[in-house]
Amino acid sequence: MSETPNSFSGNNLSGTGLVGRHDIYGPIHKGLRLAQAGLLTRIGSTDFEDAVATVALLDELKSNLDFFKAHLRHEEEVMHAAVEAKAPGTMARLEEQHDEHRYRFHELEQLIATIEATPARQRAPLGRALYLAFTNYMSEDFAHMREEETVMWPTLCALFTDEELQAQEGQIVSQLSPDEAIFSMRLMIPSMNRVERAIFLAKVKTGAPPQAFNAVIEFAARPTLSAEDFADLSDRLGLAA
Ligand SMILES: [Fe+2]
Repeated sequence: MSETPNSFSGNNLSGTGLVGRHDIYGPIHKGLRLAQAGLLTRIGSTDFEDAVATVALLDELKSNLDFFKAHLRHEEEVMHAAVEAKAPGTMARLEEQHDEHRYRFHELEQLIATIEATPARQRAPLGRALYLAFTNYMSEDFAHMREEETVMWPTLCALFTDEELQAQEGQIVSQLSPDEAIFSMRLMIPSMNRVERAIFLAKVKTGAPPQAFNAVIEFAARPTLSAEDFADLSDRLGLAA
């Protein structure tokens, strides 16, 4: 399993040679893409002169930005540190991109504060600015995540066994508060296909205490999945109806 033909280039999207290896980026990055696509759509469709709608949007945006920041920190503290210990300098480019993301977060937070301090009737141009600023962050992060999945994942697979990659992931998960864990599950679970979702949650079921697994099902899976997808998941995992 840990024998890795590392012939995978950044332009090869097939993943040849790595099928079956532990996909440490896949589920969380699908979730981050889902979150960002949803936020961009919401920013674009919000009437910024509607004070109630704007508060709801900005609250959601702020909690997502906190989650995005924590994601960068976790990658750096756990995965980047492990790579740098074996192959110094490998993470420099991705860490530069993380710094660029932090600059975008700062821009977005400044805009959010400006919108909050501006009377509702004058907010429309600021709403447009927020939409465009979020587009800047999102386009950069989508390119960044693609690079992680197509360039860095093969490097990780060459440097570490699946057991080591799972241990890194476990270290990240153990740092999440219960709220953060549910937040991330609410993004990841609906963004996966049915087979991926069942395999992912079967691992959670095996590794987590029963009450934690039940919380994932009740607070993350059930509210985010269609009735059909939830029924499919219940069948595959053998959950009581
Ligand atoms: Fe990253």
